[in-house]
Amino acid sequence: MSKETILILGSNGQIGTELLISLRAAYGYDNVIGSDFKQPNEPVGGHFELIDVLDSDRLREVMEKYKVTQVYHLAALLSATAEQKPKAAWKLNMEGLFNVLDLAVELKVKKIFWPSSIAVFGPNSPKYNTPQNTVMDPKTIYGISKLAGEKFCDYYFLKHGLDIRSIRYPGLISYRSAPGGGTTDYAVHIFHEALAKGKYECFLKEDTMLPMMYMDDAIRGTIELMEAPADKLSTRSGYNFSAMHFTPAELAAEIKKYIPEFVITYNPDERQKYAESWPCSIDDMIARKDWGWKHQFDMPAMVKDMLEHCRNFV
Ligand code: SER
Repeated sequence: MSKETILILGSNGQIGTELLISLRAAYGYDNVIGSDFKQPNEPVGGHFELIDVLDSDRLREVMEKYKVTQVYHLAALLSATAEQKPKAAWKLNMEGLFNVLDLAVELKVKKIFWPSSIAVFGPNSPKYNTPQNTVMDPKTIYGISKLAGEKFCDYYFLKHGLDIRSIRYPGLISYRSAPGGGTTDYAVHIFHEALAKGKYECFLKEDTMLPMMYMDDAIRGTIELMEAPADKLSTRSGYNFSAMHFTPAELAAEIKKYIPEFVITYNPDERQKYAESWPCSIDDMIARKDWGWKHQFDMPAMVKDMLEHCRNFV
């Protein structure tokens, strides 16, 4: 394997925290540089740089300093936060992406990863087994920025030959770091509250079904996509990517098997609307065919593993 130097933009976030650990294990501790717009809450060791992705000069400085060969660009505002600050979200999500794409072309970066989301779909997309290519009419600023971003990724691939790869993540469930500002976050908070208090007030209705994935699968799949031969990839916008789907009531019932006294109540807020505009389940046949994607965790396996790990945090 040729030597790679990998920069993660947004390494303090829910995905970045875990990718930093896994990429360092795979590519060498000193070959993976963490970065975010603020210092991590807990020191991550190794190379870390403060970068605001809107500051293209600073981004260039770091990319040149380390002779970066791959960038994982994860810095973005998620659905609920983006609705509160639509202009700031659009600016960060789009201009940040342009800065990365333009510098990648200029500095001849070998590969870029950029996360898309199930939020690219909308109320007129098929709800169940939503296919890769279908009606896409996102109703959130976050979803609109992800759909536009996908189109630009494809454009930079076609126009500049940039090797950019992307996944439409479902809700991601993890214990190492808290998600921030998303609609699917209830599926993480519920574990911490169940263990700490034996109860949880959910901001979605009990029957709101959403596609979800355990972080172990998401990280493995992401690295597998990045390591797949370029000629196997049939899309440069986001790949549909799936593992499980469930409702808050179904998740609560599984948690109750381990914590019988656990009680869930429902108090839906504005996030209900965003969730209702998204698919209930995803067809990821093309990812499975193109680069051999296969999930390992279903809902019961995820709940068991989450509870085991979250106990350490209570
Ligand atoms: N998890 C994201 C959110 O809820 C969707 O990709 O905003």
